[in-house]
Amino acid sequence: MNIILLGPPGAGKGTQAARLVAKHGMRQLSTGDMLRAAVKAQTPVGLEAKAVMDRGELVSDAIVSALIDDELAAMGESTGAIFDGYPRTAAQAEALDALLAKHSRKLHHVIELEVNEDALVERITGRFTCANCGEGYHDVFKRPEVEGVCDRCGSTEFKRRPDDNEETVRTRMVEYRAKTAPILPIYDARDIVSRIDGMADIDEVSEAIEQVLAS
Ligand code: AP5
Ligand code: MG
Ligand code: ZN
Repeated sequence: MNIILLGPPGAGKGTQAARLVAKHGMRQLSTGDMLRAAVKAQTPVGLEAKAVMDRGELVSDAIVSALIDDELAAMGESTGAIFDGYPRTAAQAEALDALLAKHSRKLHHVIELEVNEDALVERITGRFTCANCGEGYHDVFKRPEVEGVCDRCGSTEFKRRPDDNEETVRTRMVEYRAKTAPILPIYDARDIVSRIDGMADIDEVSEAIEQVLAS
């Protein structure tokens, strides 16, 4: 099964994708994570993307679609894909259709996480992750069970994203509204969009997603 998780910054795409990976053995294809890895490794893509990401703007369509193409090429055919943060523009939606055809895949569901924008700044500015295993946390909503120790791997190192400050988050939201939300009608016309209340508890959101996948 191949699905798109759609929603503004902080909607919970990464959180829910990680759960789907653990539960169903699907693969999370997060262009944000791929770009951050490229920035860290200082590849040509990373060098080009860094300043754009720090401003909260969108990296070029060609770059992100090439990253997705590479990942799909490297994946086993039977492994389901979770597109997290891709596509984000009409051009990317078109590119994804071509990539799915190229890699003999079908798109089964587009899941839109509906959230209240006012809550997103708090979610994002409170976010941190384990520097070792990437497990996601939040200062208020999801603290480690033992203070300062990762629940999953026991590491005591945590990190925060450089674009998780209020000013950049506002730009990311403007970008979402202007360029990403307008692609929903493409998928509505195919009758594959399910809308889920992303303001519910993390577990409740997961349950709602499971119901969509089972439908
Ligand atoms: P990307 O990494 O995709 O960031 P984003 O879309 O802004 O989304 P986030 O990762 O911030 O949010 P999320 O929905 O994953 O939320 P999370 O689960 O972490 O992109 C970053 C940048 O890369 C872009 O700005 C752009 O420059 C570039 N880029 C990436 N893809 C691109 C593309 N396709 N085209 C062009 N440029 C691209 O949750 C957030 C926090 O809330 C966490 O702390 C979590 O614990 C908490 N939380 C989650 N769910 C809940 C809940 N239900 N209740 C309470 N708290 C919750
Ligand atoms: Mg994310
Ligand atoms: Zn960890």
